[in-house]
Amino acid sequence: MLKGASVLYTLLLITIIFGQKVNKNGKIKRPNQSFPQTPLMTMLAQTIAPNFVQQDPTDLFDILRDKYPLPNGLQSPFSEYDYVIVGAGSAGSVLAARLTEDPNVTVLLLEAGRPESLITDVPSIAPYFQRTEYTWPYYMEKQPDVCLGMINNRCYWPRGRAVGGTSVINYMIYTRGRPEEWDRIAADGNYGWSYADVLNYYMKSEKNNMRGYENSPYRGKSGELNVEFVSFRTPLIDAFLEAGRILGHPTIDYNSPEQLGFGYLQATVTAGKRMSAAKAFLHPNKRRLNLHILPMSTATKVLIDPQTKIANGVEYVRNRLRFEVKARREVILSAGPIASPQLLMLSGVGPKKHLQRHGIPVIENLPVGFTLYDHITFPGLVFTLNETNLSIIESKEATLDNIIQWLQFGDGPVATTGAAEGIGYIKTPVSNDPDNVPDMELISIGGSLVSDGGPLGSKATRRGMMINEQVFDGAYGSVDNTNTWTAFPMLLHPKSVGRLELKNNNPFSHPRMYGNYLSESSDVATFIAAIRHIQALAATEPFQKYGARIHRAQYPACRNTTFDSDEYWECAVRTFTATLHHQIATCRMGPDNDPLAVVDPELRVYGIGRLRVVDSSIIPRTVSAHTNAPAIMIGEKAADMIKRTWS
Ligand SMILES: Cc1cc2nc3c(=O)[nH]c(=O)nc-3n(C[C@H](O)[C@H](O)[C@H](O)COP(=O)(O)OP(=O)(O)OC[C@H]3O[C@@H](n4cnc5c(N)ncnc54)[C@H](O)[C@@H]3O)c2cc1C
Ligand SMILES: *[C@@H]1O[C@H](CO)[C@@H](O)[C@H](O)[C@H]1NC(C)=O
Ligand SMILES: *[C@@H]1O[C@H](CO)[C@@H](O)[C@H](O)[C@H]1NC(C)=O
Ligand SMILES: *[C@@H]1O[C@H](CO)[C@@H](O)[C@H](O)[C@H]1NC(C)=O
Ligand SMILES: *[C@@H]1O[C@H](CO)[C@@H](O)[C@H](O)[C@H]1NC(C)=O
Ligand SMILES: *[C@@H]1O[C@H](CO)[C@@H](O)[C@H](O)[C@H]1NC(C)=O
Repeated sequence: MLKGASVLYTLLLITIIFGQKVNKNGKIKRPNQSFPQTPLMTMLAQTIAPNFVQQDPTDLFDILRDKYPLPNGLQSPFSEYDYVIVGAGSAGSVLAARLTEDPNVTVLLLEAGRPESLITDVPSIAPYFQRTEYTWPYYMEKQPDVCLGMINNRCYWPRGRAVGGTSVINYMIYTRGRPEEWDRIAADGNYGWSYADVLNYYMKSEKNNMRGYENSPYRGKSGELNVEFVSFRTPLIDAFLEAGRILGHPTIDYNSPEQLGFGYLQATVTAGKRMSAAKAFLHPNKRRLNLHILPMSTATKVLIDPQTKIANGVEYVRNRLRFEVKARREVILSAGPIASPQLLMLSGVGPKKHLQRHGIPVIENLPVGFTLYDHITFPGLVFTLNETNLSIIESKEATLDNIIQWLQFGDGPVATTGAAEGIGYIKTPVSNDPDNVPDMELISIGGSLVSDGGPLGSKATRRGMMINEQVFDGAYGSVDNTNTWTAFPMLLHPKSVGRLELKNNNPFSHPRMYGNYLSESSDVATFIAAIRHIQALAATEPFQKYGARIHRAQYPACRNTTFDSDEYWECAVRTFTATLHHQIATCRMGPDNDPLAVVDPELRVYGIGRLRVVDSSIIPRTVSAHTNAPAIMIGEKAADMIKRTWS
């Protein structure tokens, strides 16, 4: 059974990574995507409809995918829409759905990726998607003192590239941020963004399906986005919650405004299957005549009249051919925190000198990309256990029985969201926040980085983070594929600020992304404090009854340090510095006196007419949240603002 199971998992894997050639450095080779055509070819192409039919003869797995044909047997899109939205991600999907509630309004939704498939529905294989056709394989620029244990010393920043965006490849964790954090955003001058305001929009999307929270005034009941507990749990999550209570952290609904505490994982899942933004908001509305969705269509530029500074359309590439589409009312960028700022700059909106250096005519001088925050973690704090069936061991769970159980009932180990089981918010002793705001989130895992190792394991988690295999084996080889527990500490409010810049003026190049991780010593101190706290949790009876003992991992860069000293942990964190993929603020929202603002509190790009940015890139400061639910909330809220503008 074991062998057969692995074969099945391998088949799933092959399915999702087909067409991808990964070279030794872990880089994905992509076909040359720049557009080679002449103006004449473009003209000809625009007259032929076959470029827009949904059937893709080159796609072997077409039958497994969701489809978004143009409605009414339409062979090609219109040349003009009321709204053109770039990016069918977490925010873009809900925005498109809300705007097309009015049948008189037409929307074109451009998306570079393909629709999701049966495979992306499987929660337990979330870690697999980070190097597939469903991802943009971005890398952070090399920073000499972090990511030392990663391949080529570089951190990997995958993003979703699919109808549904990053919600098609993420870990499905549902979080909203603390009330104080949204109130601070509003107090900065961002009217309409207080906790009370955003709560309405969180609740509007949500269909709360969690036992015990039925009557919570903070949970939405009639939205489209199903939120539920993960049905499969290991005993380790109960140990985590109990240990938390012992150390003074009550078990709470961490998405309500209660005090800090711990709780079971709340996930964007429906009956054990991934609930992407596309599944919630686009799939049910695909028969709307006024909503045209074009997958595999990559926007390359926003068309802005340089005289009037009004956006009037979008240039995009599909099947290697260039097209233009006009927007009567507005162009909306929902391409996410990397591509939205990139597109703005390619279109002449950004830091003047920087654009000039790349030969881009400047239309508006704005601090695009000046601010970039991210949430990083240290995934290497592993505790060994003395019992044999406590944690999830992939090579044991990947059985045909379990897969069939999941297909049939949506539960069992295949339903686990990449083994994340619970969350805790803590405020470490080094925090100087005057309010009840946490500085660390702890994510309790039903295992650890070693849980998918061994001869039959996929090693997907470590590979998804692009961890150097030699460093990994040196540090964890002795405990690979055994029963372990970990909690990932996530630094919620880093003081270090990153930056995003263009590499060149080619829309198919990746921008340069500078994480600038751990450049402030307080960020390091907060990590060490969190690691100490996780050690304290592991020292309580609920974990000690399983014989929890810290694994003495040895990293090449840390040989000179004493195990468990502060220096050791700083070095360890700098070795396995892993992002949890919450890049924000590259198109920062702010009032007009904010020198770092790119969009106003109604998400309109400063200085440009009829152009908004609606996605996680507008979040102006760090929030205690994984950013999928916030991005969906932003899409909801923007839809109302746009409707108000045009009513
Ligand atoms: C591996 C991983 C795990 C994560 N886990 C979680 C989690 O558990 N919980 C959570 O809350 N958050 C998680 N996140 C983060 C969260 O999913 C994202 O922050 C959120 O989905 C971002 O939404 P968005 O609308 O801003 O952008 P996206 O959802 O990224 O949407 C942008 C869309 O625009 C498209 N696009 C980009 N450029 C172009 C172009 N030029 N033309 C056309 N289309 C374009 C992209 O293909 C994409 O579909 C995770 C992220 C990753 C990468
Ligand atoms: C991609 O194609 C363009 C145009 O044909 C060419 O100039 C460029 O060198 C190619 N790039 C690569 C990496 O092959
Ligand atoms: C749509 O347009 C028609 C004709 O202009 C009008 O009668 C109708 O009220 C409009 N519907 C909505 C929902 O605005
Ligand atoms: C494993 O767990 C099951 C219940 O989940 C229990 O019945 C069994 O005794 C355990 N086996 C071992 C070896 O601990
Ligand atoms: C694991 O360790 C704990 C604490 O030392 C002990 O009480 C327990 O019996 C051990 N369990 C096994 C299966 O050895
Ligand atoms: C360890 O210390 C020695 C002597 O102090 C030094 O030469 C060496 O470079 C250090 N190695 C590392 C990895 O820091």
